Amino acid sequence: MSTHTVTITDNRSGKQAEFDIIDPTIGSPAIDIRTLHGQLGLFTYDPGFQATASCKSDITYIDGDQGILLYRGYPIEQLAEQSNYLETSFLLMYGHLPDPGEYDEFVNIIKRHTMVHEGVKQFFNGFQHDAHPMAIMVGVVGALSAFYHDSLDVTNPRHREISAHRLLAKMPTIAAYSHRRAHGLPLPYPRNDLDFIENFMYMMFSVPTEEYQINPVAVRAMRKIFILHADHEQNASTSTVRLASSSGANPFACISAGIASLWGPAHGGANEAVIRMLEEIKDPSEIPKYIARAKDKNDPYRLMGFGHRIYKNYDPRAKIIREACNDLLEVLDSSNQPLFETARELERIALEDEYFLERNLYPNVDFYSGIILKALDIPLNMFTVIFAMARTAGWISQWLEMMEDKEQRIGRPRQIYTGATQRDYVPLSQRR
Ligand code: ACO
Repeated sequence: MSTHTVTITDNRSGKQAEFDIIDPTIGSPAIDIRTLHGQLGLFTYDPGFQATASCKSDITYIDGDQGILLYRGYPIEQLAEQSNYLETSFLLMYGHLPDPGEYDEFVNIIKRHTMVHEGVKQFFNGFQHDAHPMAIMVGVVGALSAFYHDSLDVTNPRHREISAHRLLAKMPTIAAYSHRRAHGLPLPYPRNDLDFIENFMYMMFSVPTEEYQINPVAVRAMRKIFILHADHEQNASTSTVRLASSSGANPFACISAGIASLWGPAHGGANEAVIRMLEEIKDPSEIPKYIARAKDKNDPYRLMGFGHRIYKNYDPRAKIIREACNDLLEVLDSSNQPLFETARELERIALEDEYFLERNLYPNVDFYSGIILKALDIPLNMFTVIFAMARTAGWISQWLEMMEDKEQRIGRPRQIYTGATQRDYVPLSQRR
């Protein structure tokens, strides 16, 4: 129980009410306003939840001013350097790093859930050949609830755990199939001798006529992207998953809602926009023209992959992924391709230019992840799908946490009604 309170006075009536301040372990405290309407007859107005905590959570902590990102207390830098995606997923889901026995068991469980029901595979034939892979993801992930209803009782903790394992394990299979469908390629079965990321790359790029060669540099870069994108506290897609599941809906439907939210260009689509921008700039000599446009107050043009709503000093993920990006370009020897040259030059100019320095507009995680995915020959329309796969660990962890939280209720925001006051219906014949 908090010992701090805040008193709110309604200046119109002079009525006062006292509210507890809830202290977090780190970060900004919050006013507990649950009884506000009951006490003062007032709602709060906060479109976009800029100052509203929708839940208590033990999972991820962000300090945008300091450039800090912690998963269950562990700095993202340490996890990106020393962990792997499945270990990080275990950490997010269960709250602690697994011991060797727990780790082996978890990896084994996930591997044994990677196949999808043969009936699910039929879905892929039904989609238009040029369907966007995110459209396929929204549909197929939601449809999983029609196949795995043996464990759909969301009030049963064991059912919840099985569904979470299934989602984490099947996501790469569905993602790779959505890509292969668009290219008329056969749908391969997952391979249990490969690790999580290797298996995804195999399912994306293997062909039945040749033995698939794992590229360790590509796998290393992809592993970093997965860890860095695994969770980011109450962002739009995670909040969507929580809101959808607050009604007791099944987890496949709720994660499908999260994928839909991620699909938007203001959320998961930024790294795709980075590559489209670099393709449009074409040549490093054209950069000054685009920089001038970005600075022009009368031009809405913005450099994609620069700036961040929360990280105002630096994005810790961008620092990590920048190194991975440079290593990858060196090894793949793609640094001399015009698009990558343009990217490097743009980065150099932006890091020196006063306009960008004054506004803290450094390249963000999407700038580098876009370049990495492009260098790995991942099609542009798969970029957001990869984000969705990585974020599944966060979505299911937040969902599991929420289902245990006794304070959670069905999500039901209030509104400030600004429409007509009550009026009488006029029959059609009398209207003019
Ligand atoms: N290019 C040029 N100028 C920019 C850019 C940019 N990318 N981003 C912000 N600015 C300028 C604004 O014009 C404004 O200038 P002013 O102070 O002279 O008016 C100033 O920087 C502050 O901009 P805001 O819009 O207030 O910053 P906000 O925090 O609202 O926006 C955002 C953050 C949306 C990320 C923005 O920087 C942007 O649009 N970036 C490009 C898109 C992008 O890369 N998005 C991915 C974000 S990362 C992620 O989602 C994982």
